[in-house]
Amino acid sequence: MSDHKALVLDAARKYHEDQRDKEPFVPGVTEIWPSGAVLEEEDRLALVEAALEMRIAAGPSSRKFESRFARRLKRRKAHLTNSGSSANLLAMTAFTSHLLQDRRLKPGDEVITVAAGFPTTVNPILQNGLVPVFVDVELGTYNTTADRVARAIGPKTRAIMIAHALGNPFEAAEIAQLAEEHDLFLIEDNCDAVGSTYDGQLTGTFGDITTVSFYPAHHLAMGEGGCVLTSNLALARIVESLRDWGRDCWCEPGESNKCLKRFDYQMGTLPAGYDHKYIFSHVGYNLKATDIQAALGLTQLDKLDRFIDARKRNWRRLRDGLDGLPHLILPEPTRRSDPSWFGFALTVDPEAPFRRAELVDFLEGRKIGTRRLFAGNLTRHPAYIDQPHRVVGDLRNSDVITEQTFWVGIYPGLTDEMTDYIVSSVKEFVAARG
Ligand SMILES: Cc1ncc(COP(=O)(O)O)c(C=O)c1O
Repeated sequence: MSDHKALVLDAARKYHEDQRDKEPFVPGVTEIWPSGAVLEEEDRLALVEAALEMRIAAGPSSRKFESRFARRLKRRKAHLTNSGSSANLLAMTAFTSHLLQDRRLKPGDEVITVAAGFPTTVNPILQNGLVPVFVDVELGTYNTTADRVARAIGPKTRAIMIAHALGNPFEAAEIAQLAEEHDLFLIEDNCDAVGSTYDGQLTGTFGDITTVSFYPAHHLAMGEGGCVLTSNLALARIVESLRDWGRDCWCEPGESNKCLKRFDYQMGTLPAGYDHKYIFSHVGYNLKATDIQAALGLTQLDKLDRFIDARKRNWRRLRDGLDGLPHLILPEPTRRSDPSWFGFALTVDPEAPFRRAELVDFLEGRKIGTRRLFAGNLTRHPAYIDQPHRVVGDLRNSDVITEQTFWVGIYPGLTDEMTDYIVSSVKEFVAARG
């Protein structure tokens, strides 16, 4: 390492120490964020080092992250993207590729999904001219069930795309079994559930393809970022092509002729020998991430186990602390699952003598951050009202979620004092109003 680089990194280390929050927690004054990135000295140093080396495009850290993350999540291939939403778009779009021949999804084909969740789990269905079929979810787990999915399968159904809600696995084995029986593709949106297991198996390993987000609220932070993972090498190639402008070539930026026949291809109606670097086999995007993001991803990945443990511990502390409290539906892990939680969901019983808004106002007044279960019932949003879709059964619970559910934080940046303050605050409110 050059002397100057060592000096800069040393200064960055000292700066990190200067910036460290040394204020003690003061209940009602210190913000208790519902989520956030936990960024430590090595994260700052990784970012500074990547910036010093001006690794401004995708490069060695991106490739290293992809291979390490794929191994950690037990998939053969990972492709970094600039967000979890981009990862979802790529995952869904991959199934429309002409390379899948007769199995490719075509406009008008149906994809089963849930009504209550994050919009960009559903948007790629519409963005590809496909039709979302919405089913309801359960209160408590906030997931749908294999039974509900089974009832929604119709003659046009070709795929299932569902997120593991707030880190809580859906019935992945049963839903994967349904997908297999009915020849459907299964996409697991694992953006909120890295490290969760169902039947002892990691979420994201049940379907054909899975996605992750690295936005700071998530288990690993890269600023913005996401990933598509699969063990199907043909799908991985399609994802890479779609991510990288639609090109057919798989050389890294700055690399040439990895296939040793760069000028020997004849594709489409192009002249023989047209440079493979500029042959496009998909109508693609550019959804790549940068090496600066990946450098942060690598230091974050080293801490994943610790982060997962902290999420589980914080969730358990809230759950035990609030157990038995009237008027609130407390969260429950899906049977046979071990969630790596994203948040702690609370639903105010529709019969309770208080409304969600009152409890949320009370908590926010104490600097306890709250969030909605994302969109609630998506079909009620202006964006979706006129979009083609089908609803199977009613969406009663999705409506309850829209009106009565919110979540508080369990992310690793929270201390026991903070979670205890959340518990005592909720209890105090319910005791006064219940
Ligand atoms: C389930 C789910 N899917 C997808 C996303 C989108 O991820 P990103 O914000 O990285 O685009 C989110 C975001 O929080 C999410 O919760």
